[in-house]
Amino acid sequence: MELLNWATRVGAYVVEDDYDSDFRFDGPPLTAVAGLDSSAAVIYLGTFSKSIGAGLRVGYLVVPVELAETAITVKAILNAGQSWLDQAVLAEFLSSGAFARHLKQVRMVYRSRRDCILSALREHFGDVNVSGHNGGMHIMWHLPARLPHATVVEATALNHGVGIYALRSAVAYDFGKTPYSERSLVLGYAALQEKQIREGISRIAAALK
Ligand SMILES: Cc1ncc(COP(=O)(O)O)c(C=O)c1O
Repeated sequence: MELLNWATRVGAYVVEDDYDSDFRFDGPPLTAVAGLDSSAAVIYLGTFSKSIGAGLRVGYLVVPVELAETAITVKAILNAGQSWLDQAVLAEFLSSGAFARHLKQVRMVYRSRRDCILSALREHFGDVNVSGHNGGMHIMWHLPARLPHATVVEATALNHGVGIYALRSAVAYDFGKTPYSERSLVLGYAALQEKQIREGISRIAAALK
């Protein structure tokens, strides 16, 4: 609410990139900031890249009404439009209810993979400090003091064929070199089979011993 009040006060737009909100595993869905916004200060971005596949290249914008014409023009200039056939098939997929069924199914698979990565981490590292595990397609692991820096853990894991990423490698910066960014790792799980997840975590544990 503070962000929205600020945007309204200074005449700014907030861009809300809600790219993985289809995947929430615990509790009720989170309200989008755009949904709280009565002053039309939010430009909302959604995508089918996570729920269907990035190769589809279809996403969407919900913009304040005064920006609608501009958004359409800019999009047309950018790439001369999007395949109408892909969009028509997607529209049918949505309106038939098949997309909702698909999401339900994928959510179950990803929830189970999320549970798997958490239990594998606990099995090897004890009472782990994680965040972001209520939804999305990755978790953040905040390293205990006894383990080295995130970049060292990342390199060690990579040497053993496992890709986990310090925030910097995931192109997230806080520019302050805070313990949060130096000692946090991003672990993606959505694209992996549970067997691969268990194997990956076990390799990291063995490598760090
Ligand atoms: C932060 C973020 N926003 C949005 C997207 C989706 O991008 P696109 O719809 O262009 O595939 C991604 C994809 O990984 C992402 O990481």
